Amino acid sequence: MSELARFGVSLEKTLLDRFDQLIGKQQYTNRSEALRDLIRRELVQRQWQEGSDVAGAITLIYDHHRRDVISRVTDTQHDFQEVIISTQHIHLDHHNCLEIVAARGKAEKVQRLADALRAIKGVRHTTLSMSSTGREIE
Ligand code: NI
Repeated sequence: MSELARFGVSLEKTLLDRFDQLIGKQQYTNRSEALRDLIRRELVQRQWQEGSDVAGAITLIYDHHRRDVISRVTDTQHDFQEVIISTQHIHLDHHNCLEIVAARGKAEKVQRLADALRAIKGVRHTTLSMSSTGREIE
């Protein structure tokens, strides 16, 4: 971790009150930690917009009885194997599978993988959790 720096912030009292209410709900213990997370979130968003190296998780839900869905999901993952770190498959119930795909690489490619999985017929729900490799948001 790099050295700590302190700085003063001036803002409207009403805005600060709303910030305190918000971070109270999110169970932050102090403003500094909440502010750090806000800044990191912005930096991560920027990394994705700029096409930097990023990390993320894609989750998808699908009915494995649906024709071809498993082979399409597998084919797509083979097409993007250079950005996939690991895949976890969970049998949710008799019909539904949950798959969690951990990915790392160029933002554009990870986004394209998520889009390709989402577009497969039979995939009911897909989310992309945009995170960071951690290097530039320390
Ligand atoms: Ni399954």
